[in-house]
Amino acid sequence: MNKNGITSLAAEKARDNSVWVHDLSWDGRGVARREDGRVLMIYGALPGDSVHARVLNEPKKGPVDATIGTMIQESPQRVPHPCPHYAQGCPASQLGAVRREFSLEWKHNHLVETLRRIGGLEGVFVEPVIPSPKQWRYRERLEFQIKQGMNGLDMGYMGQSGLVSILDCRLGSVTIREPFAKLRENLSILEPHQHLGSRVPLRLLLRDDGRGKAIAVLYVMTKGPVDSRPLEDWLKTGGFGGWEIRRVRNQKLRFVSSELVITSGNPTVQIRIAGRDLILTATSFSQVNRKAANVMVDLMLEQINPDGRLLDLYGGYGRFGLAYADRGGEALVVDSAPDALESGRAYVRNTGLLVKYQENDLGRDDLSGIDASSFDAAIIDPPHAGADGAVVDLLNGRGPERLIYVSCHPAALARDLKLLSGYHVDLIVPIDMFPSTSDLETLVILDRK
Ligand SMILES: C[S@@+](CC[C@H](N)C(=O)[O-])C[C@H]1O[C@@H](n2cnc3c(N)ncnc32)[C@H](O)[C@@H]1O
Repeated sequence: MNKNGITSLAAEKARDNSVWVHDLSWDGRGVARREDGRVLMIYGALPGDSVHARVLNEPKKGPVDATIGTMIQESPQRVPHPCPHYAQGCPASQLGAVRREFSLEWKHNHLVETLRRIGGLEGVFVEPVIPSPKQWRYRERLEFQIKQGMNGLDMGYMGQSGLVSILDCRLGSVTIREPFAKLRENLSILEPHQHLGSRVPLRLLLRDDGRGKAIAVLYVMTKGPVDSRPLEDWLKTGGFGGWEIRRVRNQKLRFVSSELVITSGNPTVQIRIAGRDLILTATSFSQVNRKAANVMVDLMLEQINPDGRLLDLYGGYGRFGLAYADRGGEALVVDSAPDALESGRAYVRNTGLLVKYQENDLGRDDLSGIDASSFDAAIIDPPHAGADGAVVDLLNGRGPERLIYVSCHPAALARDLKLLSGYHVDLIVPIDMFPSTSDLETLVILDRK
């Protein structure tokens, strides 16, 4: 036995890194425990696989970063992945490689465990995951990176060892497929472009415009002026309903801050709500899986009295508030995105629905003007990081009787449920908004204590 208490046989096995994968992390890596107790996070591995892991990075503490060296035995849950890019290291749809029932079960178990571990919610009943009507071709928005590769410019997703070149992403709606293929064919138009020397120069957002066409937003990261001509020539080959070129200082902040350089056609997204069209700007948020989002809206409507007042926080253009008002209620939608709020206001002007919009940064602004107690129910649908402290305080202090929390990040949800001490959990319904990926949407109904 060595000084760490590990037998020489165990140490040998640990070096060998032969492991059985027992779980999947939220970022989609297989989780295994080595003989010496260290946790391995293995790219491409799935629960039930036995693998010889190849270690990429072994820090002194914490999980060991690894990839599959050789597969010893595949998980019985594996099915042939329908996309050839999976075998090339594409990280976008790992759960496409397991039986669909298993992936729903896994998401359910993982949510229960996260709520217990982070939220302290013991023995709480979580409804079975509601499947998405579609497993593939459901995403109405895809985002690609464009980089200089060994053989010229390339377009795809970042994998564990660099850019995975994508010819067709099966998660994306059929509307996006053709324009994407055309842009790929014509990538050489961009070759002489001056911005391509920088580290992360271009990101391409493609969206289904809801009218049978796709639209594009090309984000160019540069401090200086954008020479847009080659970019325009390239985008013209996509046959888009409209496109925009936007300048960003930092690609990570592209959804909160970007500057329009040039626009063409009609780069907007049309969303049908209650028989009327709402028009969103190209960069405004909308749910990526429209059919599954409709399931969620119906669920929300079932849970609150139809003709009261709803406070819709992090409401965007008002997906929830508008559906509620269409049934006879009133809503106040609060969000920090002026474009989304303006789209909602325009819709309300045309329909006469009783929805008001208020622009607030819920993380920074003084929220004392929001009389939360005057509402019958509140719904919050925060971004990935979860609710801001001020929102939690507002609800705990003077929130309405019923609260609905819509989450796209189980760990942030679990943390916030613990913080929402003025409420107890009544119902938890996970929805498979992002099939074939490890992400999960969850709707939680809470009542005031
Ligand atoms: C997950 S989206 C939900 C939008 C809307 N409920 C829907 O279903 O379309 C999150 C929303 O939070 C908004 N948001 C992000 N940070 C915010 C902040 N600090 N204050 C107010 N709104 C914020 C975004 O603009 C976005 O509309």
